[in-house]
Amino acid sequence: MFEGKTILTGVKPTGTPHLGNYLGAIRPAIQLGKQALATGGKHFMFIADYHAINAEKDPVVLREKLREIACIYLAGGLDPTKSVFYRQSDIPEIPEITTILYAYTPKGLMNKSHAYKAQVDKNRESGKPDDDGINMGLYTYPTLMAADILAYDTDIVPVGKDQVQHVEIARDIAGAINAHYHRELLKQPEYYVDEHVAVVPGVDGRKMSKSYGNVIPLFEDDKTIKKAIFSIKTDSRPMEEPKNPDEILVYEIYKAIATPQQLQEMGDGLRQGKLGYGHIKNMLLDAVINEIKDAREKYNYYMAHFNEVEDMLAQGAEKARPYAKKTLERLKNAVFGNE
Ligand code: ADP
Ligand code: TRP
Repeated sequence: MFEGKTILTGVKPTGTPHLGNYLGAIRPAIQLGKQALATGGKHFMFIADYHAINAEKDPVVLREKLREIACIYLAGGLDPTKSVFYRQSDIPEIPEITTILYAYTPKGLMNKSHAYKAQVDKNRESGKPDDDGINMGLYTYPTLMAADILAYDTDIVPVGKDQVQHVEIARDIAGAINAHYHRELLKQPEYYVDEHVAVVPGVDGRKMSKSYGNVIPLFEDDKTIKKAIFSIKTDSRPMEEPKNPDEILVYEIYKAIATPQQLQEMGDGLRQGKLGYGHIKNMLLDAVINEIKDAREKYNYYMAHFNEVEDMLAQGAEKARPYAKKTLERLKNAVFGNE
């Protein structure tokens, strides 16, 4: 379904990515990009740093998060000579496009946005006024995201379920503009949610998330990763007692990373009372380390040579801008009647 298509992936540089992000978002995005590229399509991959400033105001932290996320994508196998790899804030056409989109974005659509509504709900729960801590960047978040997508005539936006609504909003805005001018000024994108990518549980059994503090870290040293894995919740049943693997958290996390054969092995061992919690934690640890070891080396290299990454991002912006410029021109011509 990605043959010859333009795929666009955006990622916010907030929080140090964990194993859940890597398996659930980063690795699949790189793979989809490769699939599109292999069949004559395009892959745009960018770091949404304008989106990040809504929540993060410390430039030192922002810079560090940007470094981390850029290096993680490169470590995960993104090829910046094939994918267009850039930083949102290096493309000045994006905020210009956003301004035009605002004129076609009903306020009611922003009221319904999950990102904003989640904050209102939080405020209500803690007895604060609805708008407490909400800035216009958060409120209009989906319009900037629409510009990110529409600027490149994107066909498909691979996202996690939480971002589906935002892609739909981009579709709606593009549809409204096209309808108004009676032609396809903007390509209406589709979202793609990979149903095979499971939500990875964290060490306490809830969804692995930085906000729950239950993560397995990604590119830390073996000892730190081991500590997280050995903190995964288990019970006090003895090894010999046959267990249903589906009730065991270590097994649930293993599902996200193991081969079918490895999974079978752990499942059988648990069902037959031949594997204890220490064993299965070590199996998970081996699988995690095996999965990340090459990437971790690359990650450390790029973190130590970030000037190389800066050059890649600058070159990426040069490749991305002509597309955004063309879209902006097309929009301005239509809006201001310059045709
Ligand atoms: P967090 O929950 O840690 O704050 P984000 O909300 O920043 O993570 O998610 C970034 C990306 O990683 C999203 O595309 C999201 O769908 C994906 N992701 C986050 N947590 C998981 C998880 N536990 N399993 C699979 N994918 C995840
Ligand atoms: N909102 C996305 C997230 O929080 C990041 C993002 C910004 C994005 N612009 C985008 C994703 C455009 C896809 C397309 O993860």
